[in-house]
Amino acid sequence: MAKKVKVGVIGLGWPGREHLKGYAASDAVEVTALCDKNEELLKEQAEQFGVSDTYTDHKDMLKKADMDAVSVCLPNFLHCPISMDALKAGKHVFCEKPPAMNAKEAAKMAALAKKKRRKLMYALCQRFSAQAKYVRGLVDKGELGDIYFGKAGYIRRRGIPIGAGGWFVDKARAGGGALIDIGVHPLDCVWWLMGTPKPEVVMGTTYQKFRHAVPKGVKFDVDDSAFAIVRFKNDATLVLECSWALYRDAGGAREIAGTKGGANLAPLRILTERNGIQEDITPQLKDENQFQNEVAHFARCVLGKEEPIPSAEQGMMLMQMLDAIYKSSETGKEVRIR
Ligand SMILES: NC(=O)c1ccc[n+]([C@@H]2O[C@H](COP(=O)([O-])OP(=O)(O)OC[C@H]3O[C@@H](n4cnc5c(N)ncnc54)[C@H](O)[C@@H]3O)[C@@H](O)[C@H]2O)c1
Repeated sequence: MAKKVKVGVIGLGWPGREHLKGYAASDAVEVTALCDKNEELLKEQAEQFGVSDTYTDHKDMLKKADMDAVSVCLPNFLHCPISMDALKAGKHVFCEKPPAMNAKEAAKMAALAKKKRRKLMYALCQRFSAQAKYVRGLVDKGELGDIYFGKAGYIRRRGIPIGAGGWFVDKARAGGGALIDIGVHPLDCVWWLMGTPKPEVVMGTTYQKFRHAVPKGVKFDVDDSAFAIVRFKNDATLVLECSWALYRDAGGAREIAGTKGGANLAPLRILTERNGIQEDITPQLKDENQFQNEVAHFARCVLGKEEPIPSAEQGMMLMQMLDAIYKSSETGKEVRIR
């Protein structure tokens, strides 16, 4: 029988449970341990997924549990320290988005993974939809030519996440607001479709205009919307817009344009031209579960069959872009990424 990857999941909120469902659907994985400081939730998930080895302290888990790898599905401020603890304990790490609180942390994580020769992958799930994989395939084959424009968006008309103990809206625990929480998804996806060019110059603005929508007494010191332009070393441009609350229709742009064609992910459309006539192609793809796809890919990476698609280095570059947007907004100037 083929060797199975033994995985532990730390943090059993919604994303932690998605990782668990993904692992349960994979023949290559056995979930051997679970960790959450919420004992009731831990017991419930352990029963549901038939895992008997449970912990309320991740250090205890890393010492005792039989695992090759862990999923880190914790609030943002714990991504770096707990992923580093796991890497030090010799485990491969699959960490939820955003990669870290900032690029400095993500760089430390990437360096440790390299030193320990362990895989460090980030859960940037939008790369794993059937539509994104299809478009990236076209880009790789050169069918859209040189990609020089991307548009990334995640707009909620109202949707400030104030549950979960308030950490999403507390800069010290989240690192930022709408930008780091939801802007990170389309920014990463579109950047990946564009071939992950190296970011060079960033101009960004962030706003907090919806304090009145957050209950009094809740610490709310982050952005509720952000807008940015990123210029890359290869001269391509990406435009980003994201919000938790904004007087605009909800939606999520993920578009790219190249010298031979363009693509729009939602709904999927390929924009081309034949014999001087503009032509739209609407590929009929079967929907795929992006969470199952990403955990299955992580398992193949741990088995040495593939390399992480969102690599540790890409996670660091993604954080550099987010840091630069915040800095540009603060200073009112463009920010160069070296
Ligand atoms: N990929 C996605 O689409 C997606 C969606 C939502 C959230 N996320 C990300 O997942 C992460 C977790 O988000 P969430 O919504 O589950 O947060 P959450 O606060 O609801 O849940 C996190 C879980 O971790 C547990 N926990 C907290 N500190 C712990 C510790 N020190 N040790 C053990 N357990 C601990 C909590 O008890 C809770 O059950 C965040 O980084 C978030 O950005 C990703």
